[in-house]
Amino acid sequence: MKYLLIVFFFPTYLLAQNKQISIIPVPVSLQQNVGEFIINEQTQIEFSAQSKQLQSAASFLRNAIQDISGLNLPINKNAKQKIVLALIKDAVIGEEGYRLVVLTNAIQIKANTPAGIIYGIQTLLQTLPAVRTNAKLTVPCMQVTDYPQFKWRGMHLDVSRHFFGPNVIKQYLDLLAAYKFNTFHWHLVDDQGWRIEIKKYPALTNTGAWRVDQTNLVWGSRPQAKEAEEPTYGGYYTQAQIKEIVAYASERNITVVPEIEMPGHVASAIASYPFLSCTQQQQLPLTGGNYTNMSSNYCAGNDSVIHFLENVLTEVIQLFPSKYIHIGGDEVDKTSWKKCTKCQQRIRKENLKDEDELQSYFIKRMEKFVNGKNRKIIGWDEILEGGLAPGATVMSWRGEAGGIAAAKMKHDVVMTPGNPVYFDHYQGDPASEPIAIGGFNTLKKVYDYEPLPKELNEEEARHVLGAQANLWTEYVTTPKQVEYMVLPRMLALSEVLWSPKASKDWAGFNERLQQHFKAFDQKGLNYSKGNFKVEIKPILKEGELYATLSTEAYKGQIYYTTNGDQPSLKSQLYEGLIKINSSVTIKAATVVNGEVKSIIPAEQQFALHKAIGKKVNYTHPISRYYMADGPNSLTDGIKGTTAINQFWHGIAAKDLIATIDLEEEKNIQSLSLGCLQNYNDWIMMPEWVKFEVSLDGVNYTTIKTVPNPIAQQEKKSVINNFTTTFPSLKARFVRVTAKVLDQLPKGHSGEGKPAWIFADEFIVE
Ligand code: ACM
Ligand code: ZN
Repeated sequence: MKYLLIVFFFPTYLLAQNKQISIIPVPVSLQQNVGEFIINEQTQIEFSAQSKQLQSAASFLRNAIQDISGLNLPINKNAKQKIVLALIKDAVIGEEGYRLVVLTNAIQIKANTPAGIIYGIQTLLQTLPAVRTNAKLTVPCMQVTDYPQFKWRGMHLDVSRHFFGPNVIKQYLDLLAAYKFNTFHWHLVDDQGWRIEIKKYPALTNTGAWRVDQTNLVWGSRPQAKEAEEPTYGGYYTQAQIKEIVAYASERNITVVPEIEMPGHVASAIASYPFLSCTQQQQLPLTGGNYTNMSSNYCAGNDSVIHFLENVLTEVIQLFPSKYIHIGGDEVDKTSWKKCTKCQQRIRKENLKDEDELQSYFIKRMEKFVNGKNRKIIGWDEILEGGLAPGATVMSWRGEAGGIAAAKMKHDVVMTPGNPVYFDHYQGDPASEPIAIGGFNTLKKVYDYEPLPKELNEEEARHVLGAQANLWTEYVTTPKQVEYMVLPRMLALSEVLWSPKASKDWAGFNERLQQHFKAFDQKGLNYSKGNFKVEIKPILKEGELYATLSTEAYKGQIYYTTNGDQPSLKSQLYEGLIKINSSVTIKAATVVNGEVKSIIPAEQQFALHKAIGKKVNYTHPISRYYMADGPNSLTDGIKGTTAINQFWHGIAAKDLIATIDLEEEKNIQSLSLGCLQNYNDWIMMPEWVKFEVSLDGVNYTTIKTVPNPIAQQEKKSVINNFTTTFPSLKARFVRVTAKVLDQLPKGHSGEGKPAWIFADEFIVE
């Protein structure tokens, strides 16, 4: 009787939802119903008429179920308990979409193409255990309609800087497939290793795939190899292995886009065949980031180089069915071309203006060849310089500017901006993470990414095929670290690329993600547990300054102090905006389940002063890459810290001249501008900072010009506040001029070139 009562009072909606469905990327629509389908010995897989096309999908499903349960489902007709795969004609779901219906006696997956069927299967698999289990396999009854937002859903992997064998690539492809990515950009060629067998040029892999092993040293500090040292680190993929990987990807609806870099980043090819460079000198394979006396570009004036590349591409095209062949094109240092007779002859003969046009000439010739084989080229956004090849697709990595320009020229574009989809950057507080190349792309930043830039109209936006995350591996030495760098950020990107924009829901994603973390734990996948760094931001409301604190951690709480103490569970719990009544420093930490998670608390100085919230007018625009938190960053009440890119305004090669209208005459007695020097990033102190005031905005009086006290050779990150105090005076306008250092000092990697200025905050008191 008791039991009956319990069942009686158990609400049906709870029964229906007692198994939580946590699909990533979230489907366009998903309705969960009462009941469940049980996969057991009686279950069979059935597929409709076009049997050949679905054979591979059916085997894929059978293998996946066998892996987790040991059940070997027969592929059959007329079963009672069945999983039906069927091709249909359905305009709503498009080429890659699917409909999944789970009833108590059948599961149906329907799609226009085998690709759609595969995605339906992936969704189904996310409702099942991740690893081998003896438990009953149950699938909650539901109805799903699903299709992607973007055509190009890409993940990249650099296998040159560190090599990852065929099995690692297959595991990487499994991850891509599980999260409905359809493009694997395989970076097979770079300075530090040539990784693809080319039968006509065996030295590319006999020599170019091997280097002296310095894996124990961090990338930047690896010395160049010496003649006597044996090259033992490396590897490459044979053509047979490549064919197998391409087929493996294809079964999962993944196109493998090979990247054969040119004309730069090819020191490995030159080590194999010295005739490929301008100097034609012998060189040893590079070991890391030290390029002293190395050639790294093909000679663009030598036709035998072009023929070499045509032969290479012929073999590449035979191996990869991809419509796109990636020809690189990034970061070509053209100084060798300036000094090369052949390159200069080419410039004259072809009436080219300069070395940029020489690169463009080179890429256009390669495009012609690739087009002749019925394929298209895609390249990094530098291929815009000197003129874009007529049918080229552009991969925009230096922000979105290249992609925007190309789309406006009616070229197709794939967005891969460093911020936020370079997955070689840190994802959590660097203090808690393995060493990475730099940058800070958190899970939420990836989740918030919007691949269609506002600058494009509807017509232009159609040229944005989608987006991709890139994993460069200078600092990624092991397969476990590959997993760590992409997990869980690739899940956030999958939702950006697949799910409708309107269904974006960070909290919901974070909740569903917890299920996937469990699956990662069960599978032994290495993933980042999260970014526990509290974000501290200013906001102005009705002229008052407040701080907002936020954390990305699931069920994270924030504890903070304003008295300089380290935050702990005994500190103040953050429950809403913090009013800033005086100049203070906020320190804050994330707490999850009663445990402080931040290794180093976040810390932000707030400066209360007379120009807060006032509009700043710039004589020269601030770099679009360093806008900090917007155009009023100099007067937002918070001071930049040594972490680049957060609250600093950056400007290159020009003086920073900022004018503030205080909106009424005010008594002022002190002016101050904070500036950053970060030698290695080309960010230098201004030579001097001049402060001026005015009552009418036309006639200015100079208060003081403050010289720079910091040595140019200072390589540590340092902040200096250029400050002047004076007897109180009345002013409505204040202007600051920071004089840019026109030439980076002797010995600097950018010697003779102009520096950047990074400034924050302009304090008026
Ligand atoms: C790149 O990151 N150099 C394309
Ligand atoms: Zn040359």
